[in-house]
Amino acid sequence: MAEWRQAFHLEPPRGWLNDPNGLCWFDGRYHVYFQYCPLAADGSGPKCWGHYESPDLLHWTFTGVPLTPDHPRDADGVYSGSAAADGGTLRLYYTGNVKHPGDYDYVTAGREGNTLCVETADGRTMGPKRLLLTNGDYPADCSCHVRDPKVWRTAQGWRMVLGARSRSDAGRALLYRSADGLRWQLEAVLEQKPAFGYMWECPDYFELDGQGFLSLSPQGLPHGTYTCQNVYQSGHFAVDGDLAEGRLHSFAEWDMGFDFYAPQTFRAPDGRRILIGWMGIPDADYANPTTALGWQHCLTVPRHVTLQDGRLCQTPVRELDALCGAPRPLPEGETAAEAPFRLRARAAGSCRLTLAGGLELDYDAGGRVFTLRFADPAISGGRTVRRARLNEPGPLELDVLVDTSSVECYINGGSTVFATRFYPASRRIAVQAQGMQASAAPMRPMQVDGLA
Ligand code: FRU
Repeated sequence: MAEWRQAFHLEPPRGWLNDPNGLCWFDGRYHVYFQYCPLAADGSGPKCWGHYESPDLLHWTFTGVPLTPDHPRDADGVYSGSAAADGGTLRLYYTGNVKHPGDYDYVTAGREGNTLCVETADGRTMGPKRLLLTNGDYPADCSCHVRDPKVWRTAQGWRMVLGARSRSDAGRALLYRSADGLRWQLEAVLEQKPAFGYMWECPDYFELDGQGFLSLSPQGLPHGTYTCQNVYQSGHFAVDGDLAEGRLHSFAEWDMGFDFYAPQTFRAPDGRRILIGWMGIPDADYANPTTALGWQHCLTVPRHVTLQDGRLCQTPVRELDALCGAPRPLPEGETAAEAPFRLRARAAGSCRLTLAGGLELDYDAGGRVFTLRFADPAISGGRTVRRARLNEPGPLELDVLVDTSSVECYINGGSTVFATRFYPASRRIAVQAQGMQASAAPMRPMQVDGLA
């Protein structure tokens, strides 16, 4: 259905999208690059970077595909990376993926994960590709899987984390420092004992109110009933002291829904820490029916990340309020709302919100368990159930963003979040609110140019 085109989530004009890359504010605009296969909605074909830009997070322009695998050191994919400004120049750091033809396992042999850099003055036109690091430069006990540079600047110089898998299958992050952002020295290898998964993808580091956080997308964590329910996870460690000391603790997942992976954060010009995730996940056993229509996946809305009582919370950036009309109270029982809309609710105890007759958001106040369950396979694409134990006792507060084919549910000020795709038969969504006081505000679509 053409109706599944999202109204306020960035998605590719056609083809496949995965990780957000190079998020930044530069030259008076927000820049959102993303992993992009323009030729195939199933993710096959050359992996490139696509690019959106916006003055205000509401009006977006798709400017095209500024990075393609056209260099011997990135011949099999311009993989994920980040952006850091150097005066009037934006530097984009990324992984050049190369797979050698032959009988390789592509873990310990046959693969290159090169670190490259390009410069741009306008975010759209790229200078020459410059090779910074190759696998020979990484610690010898790393496998070939080293990628996803996240670069940031401090008063002391430039720093970078790379995600990696050791030869003994331990996830790790490589921390580098540099005086000029071009010549890098290894500072520390960050890992956990016992190993915390076999691979860490898309690491990121930021500080809020003086507390450091290392975000990562680990693969290979054991699954639980209330945690780590997806094939791969993404979450954050708190970091005590300097990151190089490697004192990581208190891992918590960013999002408990079906569709979330490889988030990246950046600093907005007003100092806010903003996170955008891929509303999708690799190797999932559920599907997105838009693939048959020529496109697949989207990004989450930008989320404002704050530290509340020692916990990281996420809320939709306030800019989105401008898309919302006047809220109207929802009666108990069945009603309907036209997607996109934003539903807010409060409940004193157990409650349930059912969308489109088959997506249940259920709260059991006794066990403090929040459950997202698909009761109707027609809208689920194969998704089943995800659960979380909430951090807070007491009343429940929901802020639910319903786009034409996704739901982002922010619970208790964003201390727990669930993101999922869903595929209702029409934009007119049946809404059943039980045990809660709810209101729904219609939303208008963002303006997105350049998609033709
Ligand atoms: C995460 C990831 C990254 C890699 C990119 C390739 O989803 O696997 O580690 O750079 O996707 O598209």
